[in-house]
Amino acid sequence: MLDADKLFAGSIPENYDRLMVPLIFEPFALDLSERVARLSPGAVLEIAAGTGAVTRVLAPKLQANARYVVTDLNQPMLDYAAAQQGPDERIEWLQADAMALPFEDATFDTICCQFGAMFFPDHIKAYREARRVLKPGGHFLFSVWDRIEENVLADEVTKALADIFPDDPPNFLGRTPHGYHDTKLIRADLESAGFTRIVIETRTEKSNAPSPRIPAVAYCRGTLLRNEIEARRAGSLEAATDHVTTALAVIHGTGAVSAKIQAHVITAMA
Ligand SMILES: C[S@@+](CC[C@H](N)C(=O)[O-])C[C@H]1O[C@@H](n2cnc3c(N)ncnc32)[C@H](O)[C@@H]1O
Repeated sequence: MLDADKLFAGSIPENYDRLMVPLIFEPFALDLSERVARLSPGAVLEIAAGTGAVTRVLAPKLQANARYVVTDLNQPMLDYAAAQQGPDERIEWLQADAMALPFEDATFDTICCQFGAMFFPDHIKAYREARRVLKPGGHFLFSVWDRIEENVLADEVTKALADIFPDDPPNFLGRTPHGYHDTKLIRADLESAGFTRIVIETRTEKSNAPSPRIPAVAYCRGTLLRNEIEARRAGSLEAATDHVTTALAVIHGTGAVSAKIQAHVITAMA
């Protein structure tokens, strides 16, 4: 992962929430929220909450007296999430780095983190932090994307961008969101951090969009690919988005697009 791979700011939060969340995050958010709610936790921490894809569906499922602390490294993502959420006295919004959680030991019953772990610079250190702030016997639930080849649109967008930047293809998607998918490594990292009862489930869903233009805009402007494209050639974002739209239309046609997405959903006990 590069240092720049964690800068979710500028217009990215809005494009991310408007385009990426419905495209690939919502089905997994629903599943994760149901898993957390089944545990009936009194105190929940969400790490790397982004624009609130999980928060929106989990908050209504939590007990009336639950404490729900929602955190992210990037304040602009959290601001966007808080602005979308109706007033809810159970929720505390807090900027926090997963690598150094600002909480006392044994504070939470459950921690959830959807598609954030791939961004942690040191997985074992982040997992140790999660375990430290969990009560003994508490649960850590998180998800990571599977390899890029199992996530059809991300793979096709990456290949299309390599056509126009052949010398230095933008590879944010392969490098970071799809760069931590080895289940043996994930299990070993969790064990090194002291977690037990680790269960890893691979889940497949569909990514649906009314036309190829939607995923092209979503990936090129709602992810950090945007920064990579602009760094290679200033002013090339529009042309790059058009090229990706055409490439996706050649594969899927100009109408509705439906493509496989796949992720690992992990549960571990402190
Ligand atoms: C792909 S987004 C996932 C957001 C949200 N959970 C969702 O499902 O839409 C990854 C998020 O991880 C956050 N992030 C990156 N590094 C982080 C860190 N070290 N600690 C906490 N959050 C981090 C980013 O700011 C971003 O919001």
